[in-house]
Amino acid sequence: MGNVIILGSQWGDEGKGKIVDLFSDRFDIVARYQGGHNAGHTVFIGEKKFVLKLIPSGILRPGKKAVIGNGLVIDPVALVSEIESLESAGVEVTANLSISNRAHVLFPAHRMLEKMSEGRPGRVSLGTTSRGIGPCYEDKIARRGIRMADLLDTAFFRAQFDSVMEEKVAIARTFGIYQEMDLGRIREEYEALAERIRPMVCDTAMLLNHAIRDGKSVLFEGAQGTMLDVDHGTYPFVTSSSAGAGGACTGTGVAPTRIQGVIGVSKAYITRVGAGPFPTEALDGAGEQIRKRGNEFGAVTGRPRRCGWFDVPLLRYTAAINGFDSIVVTKLDVLDEFDRIPVCVGYRLGSEQLAEMPATVREIEKLEPIYECVPGWSTSTFGISSYDDLPAKAKEYLAFLEERTGVEIGCISTGPERTQTIVKAGSRLEKLIG
Ligand code: GDP
Ligand code: IMO
Ligand code: MG
Repeated sequence: MGNVIILGSQWGDEGKGKIVDLFSDRFDIVARYQGGHNAGHTVFIGEKKFVLKLIPSGILRPGKKAVIGNGLVIDPVALVSEIESLESAGVEVTANLSISNRAHVLFPAHRMLEKMSEGRPGRVSLGTTSRGIGPCYEDKIARRGIRMADLLDTAFFRAQFDSVMEEKVAIARTFGIYQEMDLGRIREEYEALAERIRPMVCDTAMLLNHAIRDGKSVLFEGAQGTMLDVDHGTYPFVTSSSAGAGGACTGTGVAPTRIQGVIGVSKAYITRVGAGPFPTEALDGAGEQIRKRGNEFGAVTGRPRRCGWFDVPLLRYTAAINGFDSIVVTKLDVLDEFDRIPVCVGYRLGSEQLAEMPATVREIEKLEPIYECVPGWSTSTFGISSYDDLPAKAKEYLAFLEERTGVEIGCISTGPERTQTIVKAGSRLEKLIG
């Protein structure tokens, strides 16, 4: 059994939570590698709904181990509240979760500093989740961040907290975004939270490498999506971490030579939350229809998601960046009522036809999608769990996507629940998940 990365191939919310939960029973450990509580991964188990933010979706499988890797930024308030709400729903978290001592700690001052970019005149507003994610990663890269290991070293933490926060308050006052905060109270609150978290904090890179050496298997869970990756996404309309497959190595301390496969998760269409270019966005009634049928509202912020059509060049791009062995196409059922389904098969930029994704948002904003319409199936696919039971036209739609993207569709999701899934027999995906 190999180690596999599962990640989003679009702008997030592709249904990673459902897919990671579904496949996690085949692995020993599920490890998150980047992001923070900006993520919202929804999992339905029967009537019960869980929205995982910092904790890997694998925690929901009794006996499985979950790891929060060094690549994450952790708000201890959000983490402890997530642990408590899962434990009150009967999920065993404390005994099964390990948290990296190298992960960075997120403070209320990070949320305050996010106002520097969001909504200030002269700055581009990205429509972030307002969780302080960007400023916390800024501190990490600027080498002034406070890590989990520092938080647990009480005397060191006190001195470091005071000096880092003094600087943040000065910046906030200078730029007129200061919000009254009681730093002494916050420090005490974090010290108390540190004691709650302490038993779970360890060197997760060594934990994972030793587990792999001993024959255990790891499923790496991405948050956000490749088009939100800080390097490969629609910069600057991205999140501040490496959501792509490369992030799995830097964000956990497991080498590429130890990872056997990469699976992308893609909706049968596309959504995006927040600002930024979106070439296939459907600004007509169709976008609204997708939003309604797909219940496309942010799992974290409740914001309506922007909706649009499947974008083949974008998928080809994210497949190249991540080296997808196979993809999972989710929410096929949401397209059940469309007579014709437009699929973007190429882009025009002025008089040029483009084969690759341009690097700048100035160019991406000007892209004109070239659409081909594929006939819809006008019948319900909701809950179908066998490939043979799919309507012929739905199979043709999937075959069209597979042929144009050049990537295998190894799994199809037809509803939010575990059983509402098809794994294609003989696919590379089936082999990867064992
Ligand atoms: P994630 O962030 O990638 O885990 O995705 P989200 O949880 O933010 O959003 C995906 C939403 O679609 C969730 O509400 C899921 O329960 C739901 N979902 C996942 N797969 C399917 C599917 O195949 N059909 C339908 N109708 N809903 C799905
Ligand atoms: P999951 O893991 C969709 C978006 C925000 C904003 C941009 C930057 O559930 O797929 P940030 O708060 O990260 O600095 O915001 O990234 N964003 C997401 N969009 N799904 C997510 O997570 C997202 N996490 C961040 O809307 O456009
Ligand atoms: Mg989500």
